[in-house]
Amino acid sequence: MRSPRDFFQPLAVGAPAPLRTIPPVASRMIHFFDPSNEKMVAKLPGLAPRVDVLLGNLEDAVQASRKEAAREGLVQFARTADLGTTSLWSRVNALNSPWFLDDVTRLVTEVGDRIEVLMIPKVEGPEDIQFVDRLIAQLEARAGLTRPVLVHAILETARGVANVEEICIASPRLQGVSLGPADLAADRQMKTTAVGGGHPGYLVRTDAVDGDVRGEVHGPRATAQQDLWHYTIARMVDACRMAGIHPYYGPFGDIADVVACEDQFRNAYVMGCIGAWSLHPVQIEVARTVFTPDADQVAWARRVVETLADGTGASMVDGKMQDDASYKQCQAILAFADLVAERDAATA
Ligand code: GLV
Ligand code: MG
Repeated sequence: MRSPRDFFQPLAVGAPAPLRTIPPVASRMIHFFDPSNEKMVAKLPGLAPRVDVLLGNLEDAVQASRKEAAREGLVQFARTADLGTTSLWSRVNALNSPWFLDDVTRLVTEVGDRIEVLMIPKVEGPEDIQFVDRLIAQLEARAGLTRPVLVHAILETARGVANVEEICIASPRLQGVSLGPADLAADRQMKTTAVGGGHPGYLVRTDAVDGDVRGEVHGPRATAQQDLWHYTIARMVDACRMAGIHPYYGPFGDIADVVACEDQFRNAYVMGCIGAWSLHPVQIEVARTVFTPDADQVAWARRVVETLADGTGASMVDGKMQDDASYKQCQAILAFADLVAERDAATA
């Protein structure tokens, strides 16, 4: 076990000191691109002003034969691109893949000053994060970096979910966690085939009236589809908040169904997530709509905070009781709105 006193010591001689807190920055949409796709890369400077985070994806969705081209493309892009205030992240290949070592080595030593966060897929336990932590520290020292490269875990295996609390506190380098519903469904052997979203078979039904189970007398019994991801998102949010890091929803694969995508993103937002992945430009606007605090809610939060002044006691606002706890909820909304306003002048 590590002593708490050592937790914020650099893990390699010459590596930058770990951060004590993860700086809160707006990261409402993490827009994925394939750095081996030159046409896609050429469009990025035009897209950058619309997104909080651009992510060069090296893992799944990049063909095995394109892995080296993608890595090379990302290094070149990171060296030369002017992205303004948009952050640049990458998703490297998994720890057990033949590409992981070169992905991390090249990105940290060659463009570690440009890439803020490395997403690590299929994280199973704290040992994965501790390994990545030490490896990155070695590479940071070699490159002479002065700011630590942060790490983001994707929650997409059953073992990862079972260990999520320990994963979140494994390193001060951990910035956040995303739910990866597609790999998680595969690993759990769920009987689904989609990338995120619901399933019509996962529902609840109203009780039968007078034993009329087929609805022949009283008409069909109403059903409502349930959220397959509720448990995992709730557990992930708690684990992240316990550790002072950020939770995110991951991908929604049905690009044409922007309505269901918005619902999935909003469920995650209301539950505490601060952003989601976008796989196509249309999802950028979906994520902006969802993860930008609603103006009416911000105005309400401001009224509550002003009414309660020092945040103690109880007061009525429009007939609704407010106290220290609702004051804190409102403060969280105002702080999030400030972050978004800082990043997004048009929304501010
Ligand atoms: C994301 O990587 C997922 O598997 O859903
Ligand atoms: Mg995955």
